[in-house]
Amino acid sequence: LEKLLDYSNINKSANSQFQNYLFDLHQKYQSLKEGLLADYIPELKKANPEWFGISIVTTDGQIYQIGDYQQTFTIQSISKPFVYGMALENYGREVVLNKVGVEPTGQAFNSIDLDQKNNRPYNPMVNAGAIATTNLLTVEGASERLEQILKMFSRYTGREHNVDWSVFLSEKATGSKNKALAYLMHNSGMISDNIEETLDLYFQQCSISVSCHDLAMMGATIANKGVNPITGEQALNKYYVQDVLSVMHSCGMYDFAGEWAYRVGLPAKSGVSGGLVMAIPGKCGIGIFSPLLDAKGNSVRAIKVCEQLTRDLGLHLY
Ligand code: DON
Repeated sequence: LEKLLDYSNINKSANSQFQNYLFDLHQKYQSLKEGLLADYIPELKKANPEWFGISIVTTDGQIYQIGDYQQTFTIQSISKPFVYGMALENYGREVVLNKVGVEPTGQAFNSIDLDQKNNRPYNPMVNAGAIATTNLLTVEGASERLEQILKMFSRYTGREHNVDWSVFLSEKATGSKNKALAYLMHNSGMISDNIEETLDLYFQQCSISVSCHDLAMMGATIANKGVNPITGEQALNKYYVQDVLSVMHSCGMYDFAGEWAYRVGLPAKSGVSGGLVMAIPGKCGIGIFSPLLDAKGNSVRAIKVCEQLTRDLGLHLY
């Protein structure tokens, strides 16, 4: 943890130009006041609409950040690709593909929509697919499963994580649609009998506290073949890195995924608390946090920053 919080490895003089660029970018979009706080999970409405942080971690361990990059918030849907990576490590591609597809839906993240041909949820980034993925952990016992998830995130970020229990309770109390999805999938044999336990674990994984610096670490690790560039720890088997990046690319921004792929052209994942992680393979991870959301549940400022960054730096994959 100390190692990560010690930002002395920023080569300030050599990289001050980029740091200045980031400062200007942050200032430009801080004044943008569009969007609304998520309110369907009541606790998320307590966020400060002014919060705005950007963090970039390169695959060779340099760190650039600005604004509220240490402010914690709940990870929400950004947990989904990382838990998907865990399920792949636990069960392998074939089993996971039998339970969760890899097809974008063009639908909202919480839509009640399963593939009629095989009863599978369409992909692991929408709620249905994420719940089915959370059902694919091998360790026994509810607290052991949560521990497995928390430890996985620690490998990516290099620090310990906790669940924000107020957000968890708030999600659980208002999560009828997720419950309906879980029971529907259980009815067709897509998830196992411990339905309530799986739902609790899904609500808990979404309620894990992170900062946008943590998100940048996660992005950098996945951009670095699964190896955390600061600690050197392998967070994800490199064999599954391409699976995770591919679903982020095609499905990570929900019903904005096609437009995102067109405009930004990089794998990313958003969440309703206002976070966004983007991975630029072989180069860096970017974490952004700003809780004002557009109608599709993506952070307004985060989208603007990614669009401008990729344009200015020529990062679009194509
Ligand atoms: O299941 C839910 O509704 C939330 N826990 C996660 C949703 C989320 O972050 C979707 N993101 N845009």
